Amino acid sequence: MKAAICRHYGPPSVVTIADVPAPEPGPGEVLVAVQAAGLTSGDARIRGAPAPGGLGPLIPRVFGLRPPRGGVLGGGYSGRVVALGAGVTRFAVGDAVFGITDGMRMGAHAEQVAVKADGLILPRPDSLSLPEAAAFFFGGLTAADFLLDQCALQPGERVLVVGGTGAVGSAAIQIARHHGAHVTALTGAGNLDLARELGADVALDYRTDPARGPFDVILDVPGLMPDAAARLAPGGRLGLVTADLAGMLGAMLRPRRAGGRRLCANVIKETPQAMARLVALHEAGAYRPLIGAQFPLKDIAQAHAQADSGHKRGNLVIEMEPQP
Ligand SMILES: NC(=O)c1ccc[n+]([C@@H]2O[C@H](COP(=O)([O-])OP(=O)(O)OC[C@H]3O[C@@H](n4cnc5c(N)ncnc54)[C@H](OP(=O)(O)O)[C@@H]3O)[C@@H](O)[C@H]2O)c1
Repeated sequence: MKAAICRHYGPPSVVTIADVPAPEPGPGEVLVAVQAAGLTSGDARIRGAPAPGGLGPLIPRVFGLRPPRGGVLGGGYSGRVVALGAGVTRFAVGDAVFGITDGMRMGAHAEQVAVKADGLILPRPDSLSLPEAAAFFFGGLTAADFLLDQCALQPGERVLVVGGTGAVGSAAIQIARHHGAHVTALTGAGNLDLARELGADVALDYRTDPARGPFDVILDVPGLMPDAAARLAPGGRLGLVTADLAGMLGAMLRPRRAGGRRLCANVIKETPQAMARLVALHEAGAYRPLIGAQFPLKDIAQAHAQADSGHKRGNLVIEMEPQP
């Protein structure tokens, strides 16, 4: 099969297309022919995009001296089941599925990926296109975890989404709006209309408008608002989606601040329950992933470069050639 291989950490050009043996589904696994895969800021970061202060050197320590899974990155995918490992009864060959590869296993930037049948995989609903299904979980799970679980958003609260039209922000605007929040989005000037279309009540340009607040919940997606805590109302919560080492330690050691304000910087939970909640939000009309640029597998290095920019619109999707 063809796969995008990242043999070393480095710039987008380290990613090349190679022919590699297709994975075999082990016991309890299904083999999925990938039709579309998401390419996220997380993939770019693992490959070698700049990481928030203090975290860059930790990546090889967490993932190993060389990128994992033989260098095939990629978490979110949509496709069809093409083979079953021993003992699988939940899916049949031919089923349309979507999901995320478990935790640090990755491997979705390839024509086939083997995943646990009882893990983070679901039948693909007709209401999602292949690109939408591939991009469904990354931003949506992150936004829902931070807003609903970590920051315990309540109806009527004032929310600020910093970075409102990327993968996480575009999901956060939709989910916050659905929960009855008053949503302010901070984006670049070219994305103000898009933020409003996604459901923001107010859209502001981060280059010219300071978005003073106060806000009950602030979701700082790119981690570029160092004084965000000062804009919280008493009892407010700050979700540091991209936290540097200092931010993570601060949230861990001293989450509660003056006036009952709280810092939240946990890694999100990727669980079947969290996935089911997001699907329910989609079915309720509250969430649809925003699709930005789409690339054929051969141009995946261009997608990495766009992810590195920190200014992508919504989700990037890699489209695979149709397989026999
Ligand atoms: N904690 C966790 O468990 C967890 C889970 C998943 C992801 N993450 C993190 O979340 C981040 C994901 O972001 P993403 O994929 O949504 O990013 P993205 O798609 O690249 O979007 C970045 C957003 O930031 C905005 N932005 C850029 N410069 C800004 C500035 N100076 N001030 C305010 N906004 C600015 C961009 O707006 P314009 O394009 O309009 O300039 C864009 O909306 C990554 O850092 C990832 O590591 C964390």
